[in-house]
Amino acid sequence: MISAFRAEILAVPEPGNIVHHLDGLLIIEDGIIVSCGPYVPPPHDIPVTHFPGKTIVPGFVDAHVHYPQTERIAAHGSQLLEWLDKHIFPAEIAFADRGHSDRIAAFFLDELLRNGTTSALIYATVHTASVDALFEAALTRNMRIVSGKVLMDRDAPDGLRDTVASGRADSEALIARWRGKGRLGYAVTPRFALTSTFDQLVSAGEMVAAHPDVLMHTHMAENLGEVAAVAARFPDSRDYLDAYDRFGLVGPRSVFAHCIHCSDDMFDRMAAKGAHAAFCPTSNLFLGSGLFDLARATAHGVGVAIGTDIGAGTSFSILHTLGEAYKVCQMRGDSLDPFHALHLATVGGARALGIADRVGSLQLGQEADFVVLDPAATPLLARRTAGLSLHDKLFALQILGDDRAIAFTYVAGNLAHERDR
Ligand code: GUN
Ligand code: ZN
Repeated sequence: MISAFRAEILAVPEPGNIVHHLDGLLIIEDGIIVSCGPYVPPPHDIPVTHFPGKTIVPGFVDAHVHYPQTERIAAHGSQLLEWLDKHIFPAEIAFADRGHSDRIAAFFLDELLRNGTTSALIYATVHTASVDALFEAALTRNMRIVSGKVLMDRDAPDGLRDTVASGRADSEALIARWRGKGRLGYAVTPRFALTSTFDQLVSAGEMVAAHPDVLMHTHMAENLGEVAAVAARFPDSRDYLDAYDRFGLVGPRSVFAHCIHCSDDMFDRMAAKGAHAAFCPTSNLFLGSGLFDLARATAHGVGVAIGTDIGAGTSFSILHTLGEAYKVCQMRGDSLDPFHALHLATVGGARALGIADRVGSLQLGQEADFVVLDPAATPLLARRTAGLSLHDKLFALQILGDDRAIAFTYVAGNLAHERDR
């Protein structure tokens, strides 16, 4: 099947390489982009959908988010470790139940699509049912989703711990069950250094080594109390990164959420190993964790992606998250360019997820995951963006935009969300 979409088109394959067609045409055959360029009338038998006044960008990639925390967004009053104990662990216990997992997974993925997110790296819970539910819901929607069972065999309540053996067996079974299905991928997911025994971290490293197609997804250096606890638990390790590295958990398939309290040396070693950082500004502000140093991480060569980190994060919207990223950078004396921000939320995320050959920059041969942005989505946006340059319009969308600015979301060339229906 062939279809075509006419609108302004914008993609940012590299921070300094902007692809822009003021009046563009995207042609899609069987879910794959076969042409992307300035508008010229296509052959008569190709139907054209025209979005005047709107802008097509690649679908957003959320590189760190927890679907089981959907119902715990906006839990008042504490920082990371207390927040986990008080609000998050009790909520995650319920995901032993497949029906509950199914209901939240469906809501969560629909919320991603409403916000223009077409790919994501997602935490499930320790329970295999939570992963099966998410993958089935993602398969139904044909989304590019990477997830995995959380490994945690210590310092968590009853009903939320596995063992080295069960964590290994359940992860291997999930990898075997879901490998090659739809557009799904698996991530070995030790929750963080504090909730796995040394033996479980060894086992996680072995799984990453044994399966070249899986990612490694965890948290690192988010909160000062957490960092101190890791230093106490791993006295022989040089720093937090080393606590993972000694188990073989740092490499080009690794995604570390947060990386706020990282030394230059840690960023250097992450960059040397090709590991990625997920910058989660709404979460970092909400939990009072700190200000990610995007300029310093980038200067060291660390690949950076954007995460909402729901439920410590406070919005499903990647546009809004980029607005908060801008403010975090401002607090550090840096000004995040809106094209760079869009790059991080598309190609940056796709690289972290190992899918940059498939999605993220609207290039020929890529899968047609894209979003139709409406710069006039609200009266204020309409007033503020009228007559603006592309740079300023994109910035206004990041500062003022949210789900209301997502007019349509397409997944592999098919309409997956329509705002006004
Ligand atoms: N560190 C360990 N677990 C979590 C979690 O669920 N959320 C966040 N933000 N940080 C974590
Ligand atoms: Zn997280």
